[in-house]
Amino acid sequence: MAKDTLSITDNRTGKSYELPVEHGTIRALDLRQIKTGPDDFGLMTYDPGLTNTASCKSTVTMVDGDNGILRYRGYPIEQLAERGTFLETAYLLVHGELPTQSELEEWQYNIVHHTFIHENVKKFMDGFRYDAHPMGVFVSTIAALSTFYREAKQIHDAECRKHQIHRLIAKAPTLAAFAYRHMSGMPYAYPDNDLSYTGNFLSMMFKTTEAKYEPNPALERALDVLFILHADHEQNCSTNAMRAVGSSAVDPYSAMAAAAAALYGPLHGGANEMVLTMLREIGSVKNIPAHIERVKNKEVRLMGFGHRVYKNYDPRAQIVKEVAETVFEVTGRNPLIDIALELERIALEDEYFLSHKLYPNVDFYSGIIYEAMKIPIPMYPVLFAIGRTPGWLAQWQESLEDPDLRIVRPRQIYLGEGERQYVPIDQR
Ligand code: CMC
Repeated sequence: MAKDTLSITDNRTGKSYELPVEHGTIRALDLRQIKTGPDDFGLMTYDPGLTNTASCKSTVTMVDGDNGILRYRGYPIEQLAERGTFLETAYLLVHGELPTQSELEEWQYNIVHHTFIHENVKKFMDGFRYDAHPMGVFVSTIAALSTFYREAKQIHDAECRKHQIHRLIAKAPTLAAFAYRHMSGMPYAYPDNDLSYTGNFLSMMFKTTEAKYEPNPALERALDVLFILHADHEQNCSTNAMRAVGSSAVDPYSAMAAAAAALYGPLHGGANEMVLTMLREIGSVKNIPAHIERVKNKEVRLMGFGHRVYKNYDPRAQIVKEVAETVFEVTGRNPLIDIALELERIALEDEYFLSHKLYPNVDFYSGIIYEAMKIPIPMYPVLFAIGRTPGWLAQWQESLEDPDLRIVRPRQIYLGEGERQYVPIDQR
């Protein structure tokens, strides 16, 4: 009869063990009993990059990479992108359910009324070099917020946590836009609470002398959809950083700064920046075959392609491609889209990409939209961070409520020297 267990025979000792299987996993600690003798520490697993290790149980986001499916709290990403708003999606991620009308109004009120930042934040933002990368500024200023909200350390107080979640979702666009204004030498534009979440962000980015900035509705909607698409993606590198750092019981500002730092890397949220650089370098459709050859020779990676989880088309990339067309109706066509489309077409017919299951990911087309909207390249990872903020917070909150939570502290395989005696410097 079938049983939910796994039988293991240790050929080193001839002993057999039966381990429970739950949710398609065994508990790593159950392996510890498998020893060659009393002095043996016990069996561990070796999993660099945690490619086959479930680090938590979660109810937030489901990714089915083989079938190209992404759902937040059970809702398909396509439906949320078509019919929802970013703030509604943020509520869904944080609370687990879509809001009723009154819940949404209260949520929006709470976010809108936390968009301002303390004036002192502006002062240390001024201290960054004139050309500081806005993602570095974002990471640092998110961390710095912990010094303004010292009560945020009370992470086990649900009300207090809620307050910090409102603040972080509300202030992320303000810090992002201020980082951009600093980079471009423009005066900071304060939040306009009459505008939508995304409209206000565009206002803080682009407002100049006009008394009131009026965002273009098509661009406002496009950016809102991009934020929805980036809002969560289960245990990715930055979310894992949020959970790992948060497991030390630090405040959410410090944990989110760590998450944003993880996002900065070119293999993660920095990829959209790299895609644009790559497309510009390719420069023309005629240069694509040569670039594909370089990728296949492993000289460079095709940025915006491939994913740890998706071994099929990333469903977000499909939506971003459609959003691009709505943006181009307003901004005019970004010529890079033609290079991207042709690159995708050639790659998806090529044996290397097919056999490696490499498809466009969310970042392949998003940068082309941002560029058409006149958002400078260094801002791309920052936009990703604004979108990902509710996901990080939902996952952080879930981790704190998890009875299985322990400080994240992996093991290692030590392959270094045995004990050695200190040698004075003149005898080395
Ligand atoms: N171009 C060319 N080859 C690739 C690529 C790529 N973009 N991605 C993976 N490969 C190859 C890689 O060379 C390796 O080949 P082989 O088995 O012959 O040695 C194989 O595919 C597996 O690669 P891997 O690095 O072990 O795969 P991974 O799951 O560790 O990496 C990834 C996932 C996203 C880091 C990687 O696909 C990549 O570097 N992509 C480009 C950067 C990018 O677009 N990142 C954004 C990810 S989506 C947004 C986000 O969540 O941040």
